[in-house]
Amino acid sequence: MNSLPKILVLGAGGFIGVNLTERLLADGKYAVTALDLDGEKLRDQIGHDRLDFRQEDIRHRDESLETLVSDHDIIVDLVAMANPSLYLSHPLEVFHLNFQENLRIVEYCVKHRRRLVQFSTCEVYGRTVAGVLGKDPAEMPFPFQEDTSPLIMGPVKNHRWIYACAKQLLERVLHAYGLEDALDYTIIRPFNFIGPRIDYLPSEKAGNPRVFSHFMNALLYGTPMQLVDGGRSYRAYTHIDDAVDCIVRILDNPGGVCQREIFNIGTPENETTIQQFAEMMREIFDEEFRQAGDPNPEVVSVSSEEFYGKGYEDCDRRIPDVTKARELLGWESKHDLRSVIFQTMKYFVDRHRAGQEAE
Ligand code: NAD
Ligand code: UGA
Repeated sequence: MNSLPKILVLGAGGFIGVNLTERLLADGKYAVTALDLDGEKLRDQIGHDRLDFRQEDIRHRDESLETLVSDHDIIVDLVAMANPSLYLSHPLEVFHLNFQENLRIVEYCVKHRRRLVQFSTCEVYGRTVAGVLGKDPAEMPFPFQEDTSPLIMGPVKNHRWIYACAKQLLERVLHAYGLEDALDYTIIRPFNFIGPRIDYLPSEKAGNPRVFSHFMNALLYGTPMQLVDGGRSYRAYTHIDDAVDCIVRILDNPGGVCQREIFNIGTPENETTIQQFAEMMREIFDEEFRQAGDPNPEVVSVSSEEFYGKGYEDCDRRIPDVTKARELLGWESKHDLRSVIFQTMKYFVDRHRAGQEAE
């Protein structure tokens, strides 16, 4: 174990973190330190002889985080508030954690000359030119490219953008350190990953998670499927296993190709409107999982203000250009939208049925 390169995964207890940690342990190429406030999703990995789990808060002002950074070869930073309802309800906390606390990690990496793999977001691209010009984005399919696309945010009063701005500013700081030759980094912009162990269901835990969990909750518990502003916005979904496959290639960094690069990770072929996504989830549930007595949720349209409160503005359409990941890393995603939904749904349905049997 001592001879293996050492990776520190910050935010390892979250959706991407747990799937990544599991894969790193299975591959056996790295010794992994996993840090998170919450170790619940990592429970099956804790105890593995190549895993050191630390239940810690990166906001603590002692020396332990800096020592950890200096003691590892690669730092993967996943820590963030990454749920749109929080951008609306807690904008300052989003800025504080996603920018200020993450900046400390960047600075430790600079000081100790450690490689940083920083999770940003596709939300840095913001809105489409079509949308801003009042045209229909359906008619203007322009993929977002890492190094050429403009980043278009809405007005300050629409505080949803504080998340994207915090992430964008952090990217710009990394780039500036790179210009001074002070930091070896790679930035990842995920485009809507989904899969097993994504967010909690709102009937099981209070809160307002990402859309898959809301629709899954509707199918299992009969709450309405709510289409925010009619579900007209587009998203392109990527299976977490495909995403992790790309992340691992970035960590391996063959020939140093990821040095100071930004990578989109996404699946343009899996683009859908949210309304179509809701229909497809219902269809797959009915065909593959429905049992007698399961609810038949109604589909309703709600305004974004009703759903999120004031200050919401949606990303209208975001198509990833993944040429860079394909050409530099040889990566392709393998799961089509049906299989992404089926496998994520299966995880929740199996858990739900097991719970019903236990009652
Ligand atoms: P997540 O919310 O599931 O994971 C984030 C983890 O960070 C959580 O386990 C949380 O406990 C931990 N954390 C929060 N505050 C902490 C603190 N102070 N100290 C220690 N740990 C703390 O989110 P995710 O979906 O796994 O996303 C991971 C990263 O990827 C985030 O930076 C997010 O912005 C980015 N991202 C994800 C997606 C996606 O599709 N999932 C899309 C775009 C960007
Ligand atoms: C998501 C994540 O929440 C962010 O963490 C991440 O940074 C970002 O993706 C990303 O991939 O970059 P978003 O796709 O906006 O952001 O969040 P969801 O909550 O999954 O919403 C997707 C769409 O569904 C939005 O248009 C939203 O308004 C809509 N929605 C959400 C509904 O129609 N109904 C719901 O019940 C919930």
